[in-house]
Amino acid sequence: APVPVAERSIVLVGLMGAGKTTVGRRLAQRLGLAFVDTDTEIERAAGETIPEIFERHGEAAFRDGERRVIARLLERGPQVLATGGGAFMDETTRANIAARGISIWLKADLDVLMKRVGRRSNRPLLKTDNPRAVMEHLMTQRYPVYAQADLTVESVEGPHDSVVEDVIARI
Ligand code: S3P
Repeated sequence: APVPVAERSIVLVGLMGAGKTTVGRRLAQRLGLAFVDTDTEIERAAGETIPEIFERHGEAAFRDGERRVIARLLERGPQVLATGGGAFMDETTRANIAARGISIWLKADLDVLMKRVGRRSNRPLLKTDNPRAVMEHLMTQRYPVYAQADLTVESVEGPHDSVVEDVIARI
């Protein structure tokens, strides 16, 4: 039987720097739900950081772990999940989220994304000479898939409160 709306998790998807973790944490507070960042959960389960996982085991191994961790988290019942930027690209993960969650694409423009990721450099995909070009490529590749999310919310620059309110108004 399908999972009733009230028992669904809220799952934030979108590119690195879209604000999934910050918005997710505040959203969870506002809704009285637990918050989990799937990247953090993968690191905890692996006992390694994400750059270490990429370096030692490769991206494919990271993606396998990501798929398993998200499937397990979704079993726990209603909570707010912030997923890593690549998670929603996986077909199985999309199906799992569709079965037990409401997916929300936090969409931001390139300048906003670049400004936000600039502050944190623990993202293996952006450790290149031209992170902006990589981000643009990821936008082209991923936006058609992110667009399959149940809702799309613009993640604007500045404080995330208006984004949080926007999400609450639309779920
Ligand atoms: C990735 C995004 C990261 C992390 C990993 C790969 C991606 O998560 O999962 O570095 O493929 O976009 P954030 O979106 O939280 O930075």
